[in-house]
Amino acid sequence: MTTQKTILRALAGEALPTPPIWMMRQAGRYLPEYRATRAQAGDFLSLCYNPDLAAEVTLQPIRRYGFDAAILFADILLVPQALGADLWFVTGEGPRLSTITTQAELDQLKPVDAIHDTLAPVYETVRILARELPKETTLIGFAGAPWTVATYMIAGQGTPDQGPAHALKAENRAVFDALLARITEATIAYLSHQIDAGAEVVKLFDSWAGSLQDADFQRYSIAPMQQITQALKARYPDVPVIAFPRGAGLRYAGAHAAIGAECIAVDDAVSSSWVAKHVQNSGCVQGHLKSSHMVTGGDALVTETRAMVQALSGGPHIFNLGHGITPDADPDNVQRMIDTVRGG
Ligand code: CP3
Repeated sequence: MTTQKTILRALAGEALPTPPIWMMRQAGRYLPEYRATRAQAGDFLSLCYNPDLAAEVTLQPIRRYGFDAAILFADILLVPQALGADLWFVTGEGPRLSTITTQAELDQLKPVDAIHDTLAPVYETVRILARELPKETTLIGFAGAPWTVATYMIAGQGTPDQGPAHALKAENRAVFDALLARITEATIAYLSHQIDAGAEVVKLFDSWAGSLQDADFQRYSIAPMQQITQALKARYPDVPVIAFPRGAGLRYAGAHAAIGAECIAVDDAVSSSWVAKHVQNSGCVQGHLKSSHMVTGGDALVTETRAMVQALSGGPHIFNLGHGITPDADPDNVQRMIDTVRGG
């Protein structure tokens, strides 16, 4: 049975003549309408927890550009907050959290069943979107993958090399493993509620997968994503999963089977011809234009976009950036990328 929605067709393995397109961080600060709604909400977290305004910013890039998918507006760090961590955002710097590095701190986290008290507004956002999105637009729910979420919970902020998480892994493996297990369990519950509310696809963001080496990559990036995917498949066999082990490099090959996901999202450090040969041969791929093209535009944007569409035209492909769009991007360049993908 074929479905109308192009994203779902690509996720089912179809190579479409024009790849469907959406963009990581498509609701974001590069859009004046996003900045206006965020100002109305007061701050970023108030926006995440206000279902009407979170639905509004999710819809803004759909109205402006007609993307094929909408991604729920929320953040991967809402899960640590729902587990009891303090979370705040420092303007111009990024997230800050209370840290978990000891058994005593781990013991203070809330049980997984309690996360829905905090996350209920997110589920309400999903319900609003399921009602209001155009019928051809796919609704994507998401969560951070356990390793990436743990790096923020351990360090209390973003870090260039995830040093504190690697240190805890080396020095207190029991606490580290227990933290990952707790996040994994919470993520299964969180994504199940998003699907119950109307998410049609879910995506796992493992933004810092690339800093895991050798056996650690398998154990802390792949295995937790596989566990989450398997638990979701048992309950929702028809809901496709997109996994993004960013920075995996050569290890993107084989990731579909290792995780059990329909789609692997790739970053811009690998070439499209390599991806076509070694990743797309196992299923749908998503990506992977350099997000800097959304800042610089020009002929290079058009040439690179065309080359990527061409290189990945032999199999299922969802066009996207290799990472989130940045606040300094020009909204006109986004239109140019879409026109190039859709019009040649
Ligand atoms: O993609 C979307 O449009 C959906 C919403 C979304 C956001 N964050 C909104 C957001 C998604 C899917 C995320 C994922 C996320 N959040 C990740 C994984 C993807 C990645 O970028 O690697 C990570 C690591 C986070 C944690 C996070 N949230 C950081 C490190 C920051 C600060 C950096 C920054 O860009 O300012 C955020 C803030 C954030 N999350 C913003 C948005 C739109 C900007 C906040 C603002 O409006 O001030």
